[in-house]
Amino acid sequence: MLETAKKAAILAGRKILSLRKRGLTFNNKKRLGDFVTDADVASEQIILREIRSRFPNHNFISEEVGKIDNHSEYTWVIDPIDGTIPFSSGMPSFGISIGLIKEGKPYFGVINLPALNSLFWAERNKGAYLNGGRITVTKGKELLKSVIGFEFGYVGTRNVEMQKLLKPIIDKVRYTPVLGSTVVGLSYVANGNLDAYIHSAHPWDYAAGVVIVEEAGGKVTDYEGRPIDWSKDWIDVFASNGVIHEEILSLIKQ
Ligand code: IPD
Ligand code: CA
Ligand code: CA
Repeated sequence: MLETAKKAAILAGRKILSLRKRGLTFNNKKRLGDFVTDADVASEQIILREIRSRFPNHNFISEEVGKIDNHSEYTWVIDPIDGTIPFSSGMPSFGISIGLIKEGKPYFGVINLPALNSLFWAERNKGAYLNGGRITVTKGKELLKSVIGFEFGYVGTRNVEMQKLLKPIIDKVRYTPVLGSTVVGLSYVANGNLDAYIHSAHPWDYAAGVVIVEEAGGKVTDYEGRPIDWSKDWIDVFASNGVIHEEILSLIKQ
């Protein structure tokens, strides 16, 4: 299953880069300012075709097509392009995310950042990898030396996000880059590029990233410090190297 996920993510990555080169077509989504491109749809089709040809009886939750429930113990959770906006703007900060949930718990995750030639994966209790090499989170403890990834989210929610999250921490840490892609943020925590990443998200945004961060030695909770509730459709996700976790949480809670 893990090899199938990697293959699907690689094929989809090649396709979306070639579609972007040719020129994308855009369709508005329900949410104000949000859209989907033909590359999101093509990527999803490739991934579902690859996985369903081998595992037709599994369940699927994929951002653009929604849920396919076959009453299986396995659920594939897919974001065909995370970071559609940076992707369509010609930036490198986007990725393809495929996670597998088994009996309600994440089992493995694969993230392909095709513009960065970076394929991340992790399987529960087997470590986290980037292009075949083992990866680990940072060891940093000092907040003033920490780089914390962040997003402003959707139109209409941004002021609230800034007040709730950014305001309490922005003057206490080294830097707070905005990445434009949750899967990039989680990959960067796992790979030690970021010390932490904070963002509210849907399961397809973090299904692969959570297991990759945890297997790289990091910690992922909601903003209250509770474990991720995999039954929810929307959750506040806070991923860190583990050592600064409580300190940041206490700032967010203030
Ligand atoms: C988006 C990205 C972005 C986040 C948005 C997500 P999409 O995913 O993860 O970082 O701020 O909330 O919707 O729409 O590009 O798959
Ligand atoms: Ca997404
Ligand atoms: Ca998406």
